[in-house]
Parts: sequence; structure tokens; C-alpha cells
Amino acid sequence: MLKLKLIAVLFFALAGFGLQGAEIPAGQLPAINDFAIVDNAGEQYIAATGQGLYHSVDRGSSWRAHKTGFGLPATMVETTPGGAVYAFVVTLGLLELDPATNQWLQINNRFGGQVLQQLSSTTRNPSRLVARNHFGKLIVSENRGKDWQKLRGPYQARTEDEKRGQRTYVEKCQSCHGVDGVGETFTRQALTDKDYIMAPALDESAHAWHHTDEQLAQTIIEGSPRTARMPAGRNSGISAADAQDLVAYIKSLWTQRELDCQGPKHMECM
Ligand code: HEC
Repeated sequence: MLKLKLIAVLFFALAGFGLQGAEIPAGQLPAINDFAIVDNAGEQYIAATGQGLYHSVDRGSSWRAHKTGFGLPATMVETTPGGAVYAFVVTLGLLELDPATNQWLQINNRFGGQVLQQLSSTTRNPSRLVARNHFGKLIVSENRGKDWQKLRGPYQARTEDEKRGQRTYVEKCQSCHGVDGVGETFTRQALTDKDYIMAPALDESAHAWHHTDEQLAQTIIEGSPRTARMPAGRNSGISAADAQDLVAYIKSLWTQRELDCQGPKHMECM
């Protein structure tokens, strides 16, 4: 659903590509998702819009599109009490404004299928950022946005099969399904090519838990009938035992709710 919405937004945005850099009056600003005032001498207004980041130095009368990620949906812009300014642009990830150059610098683009919508921090500990993703879940960074974890802390495999599964996952699956199973990160290609099937999140945020262990193992070994992008593991030496370890690892990313509701039971739990 989100992908479809993003595609609609993107086509619209590309149609307006000529606007890049041009000054537009407030009335022509695309719909604003989020907004912040940067507390510098010029009192700069920043709008995160469905078509990218826009800046205004005349208190919102006129706006300029920022060339960073122009036309791509910007979902968040926040100033922190410590004076840092962060934004989130789909396909670019988390950006921080460099006050010296007024350029947006990329901090991290490994959010998988997550889009950030809100972020907060304190002056006491400006390295610690807490953000809300569009699934309505909080994620945390202890190093100014470079690495993120779920609120419940860094992932730790408990059992031996989870650990073996994690090792195989990092080697053979993470490039598509993301760190800790957060899914594939949005790219321009993923947004514009309607035949491009993205690798879904395997943690609790998507639908992996609607499948039984056997169905998950089968997809891992046989691949997907829908797209060759999901490779048949058996062609790269993944055995039935490896697939079981991978399933154990994937399930260790879920919360108790998904574990209780896995497979055919998911309908009752939704
Ligand atoms: C080259 C990218 C790529 C790699 C590598 C990859 N996958 Fe996938 N995977 C996909 C795509 C794309 C889909 C979606 C397939 C579909 O919708 O039919 C998918 C689907 C899945 C699903 C089904 C999820 C669901 O909710 O239905 C599982 C489970 C899965 N992959 C596990 C794995 C595991 C485990 C590995 C590593 C052994 C792996 N994948 C490696 C791209 C990849």
C-alpha cells in the first residue's frame, strides 16, 4: 500500500521536475508532511513535502526546492534541542543539515521498508535519537543516527539455531531483506519500475508471520514463483536444516503476538 502511494507521489513529482531550484510562492508549495524552523540568524523555515524538502528564508512567503532528493517524498523534518536538524527523504534515508553549508548530509540509509515520521532527542544526550516509523513503532540510535535498533534493545540471538540462522542470514539474505529483517530500502528503481518486487521485511512489521514454519522454509529453499529476485536457496547450497535455522532466526525477530498468531491463525489476530 505504502509503495503504491509513494509511486503515485513520485509520478506527480517527476511531472513537476522543472520547478527544481525555482522560487515558488507559498500557495504552490506541495502538501506538507512536516515542518520546522531552524533557529539561525536567517530564521529558516523547512518543509518536508510529498515532493521533497523546501526551504524559505522569508518566513514562508516564498520557497525553494532543495536539490537533495528533489521530487522524492520527504516525510519528516525535526530540530533537536541541541540545535541539530534532521530530515527523512524516501530513498535517501536520514539526513542532517550542515549549518555551515546549508547542505543535507546523508547519515544512514539502511532503514529497509521503514519510513521515519518523527524524531526527538535531548541536550543532555544529543547522540541518542528516538524516532517513530510509519508502522507506529519507536526505534533508537545511540550514535546520532548512524545505527538504529528497535526500542527493546539490540538484537541478540539466544539459541544455537537462531545464531546459525543469523550467520547464514547475514551472508545470504541481508543484502535484500535488510539488517535485522527490516526489509529492502526504497530506491528510485523500486519506486518507478512497476515490475520491481521489493524484498519484504521478515521481522514483525510485514507478513512473514502469516506463513507457517513449513511455508517459510519452502520459500527459502524453492524461491518465489512470483519473482526470480527471491532466489531458490537450494541453488546456493541452503539445506533443509539451514532453512530451519533461518526460520528460527526470522521468528526470533518477532514479538510474542506474531509468535502466538503465526500461520492460519493470523486472521483471528488481526
Ligand atoms: C536478491 C534479493 C533477495 C535475496 C538475496 C533474498 N531474498 Fe527473500 N525475497 C526477495 C523478494 C523480492 C521477495 C518477495 C517475493 C514475492 O513477493 O513473491 C522475497 C521473499 C522472501 C520470503 C517470503 C516473505 C513473505 O512475507 O511472504 C522469505 C521468507 C524470504 N524471502 C527469505 C529469504 C531468506 C531467508 C534469504 C536468504 C537465504 C533470502 N530471502 C534472500 C528477495 C531476496
